[in-house]
Amino acid sequence: MASKAQDSTSDSPTGDTGPRSRTRATRKPAAAAKQAEPRSAASSAPRKRSTAKRPTRKAQGGLGTVSMIGVAAAGLAAGLVANLGRKAAVQAPSALAGDWFEALKGEHKATLAIFDAIQATADSQTMRRSVLLVQLKHALAKHAFTEENVVYPALRDAGQAGDADKLNHEHGYVKQHLYDLDGMAKDSPDFLPLVAKFRSELESHVREEEEEIFPALHASLGEEKNLAVTRAANREGFKIA
Ligand SMILES: [Fe+2]
Ligand SMILES: [Fe+2]
Repeated sequence: MASKAQDSTSDSPTGDTGPRSRTRATRKPAAAAKQAEPRSAASSAPRKRSTAKRPTRKAQGGLGTVSMIGVAAAGLAAGLVANLGRKAAVQAPSALAGDWFEALKGEHKATLAIFDAIQATADSQTMRRSVLLVQLKHALAKHAFTEENVVYPALRDAGQAGDADKLNHEHGYVKQHLYDLDGMAKDSPDFLPLVAKFRSELESHVREEEEEIFPALHASLGEEKNLAVTRAANREGFKIA
């Protein structure tokens, strides 16, 4: 037994009984552990590094959201600039007229041109009628907004509240006709007769403004007040353009 024990320690040059003096049976698990250890270390170390350097899913999501917000903001800014350009183009004819009365006369003329186009359509041209009706509605909305927010108040301030209220009342029926045409089938045989009635009433309203009420107001205001009304009218028109 003693010689077997001696043999078992003869692998160690120093004869110590430390780890290297262990039997093969005890070395195998140690070797296996050594082999397993680097794999374990190798697999855990990079995970630690990746956790430290790579953005988390939440952070990636955050960056994605930031990018999306940036793209959306850029798109919104471009859209706003484009819309301002479009509004300026729509308001340009009135602004370039240089005087509120001349500007409104120009808008009357442009509106009647849309009526001409609608009245030239056949019942089968339903899409064209719908598109022209949208144009008419926008032109009249912008025009009425300017008159009701600037010119009619100036009329009241000039002592002509009765005229202002009468014109404002007539604008209510302009909207009524637009509402009725909107709800009507565009190939209806009643469509063009209603357009004709609408036009007739509108032309009467325009004559009152152009031939009686507005010239009197323009003459009473004087240069400075007319200029103020012109500037205010352009501001209001731009809002709806
Ligand atoms: Fe009007
Ligand atoms: Fe008008």
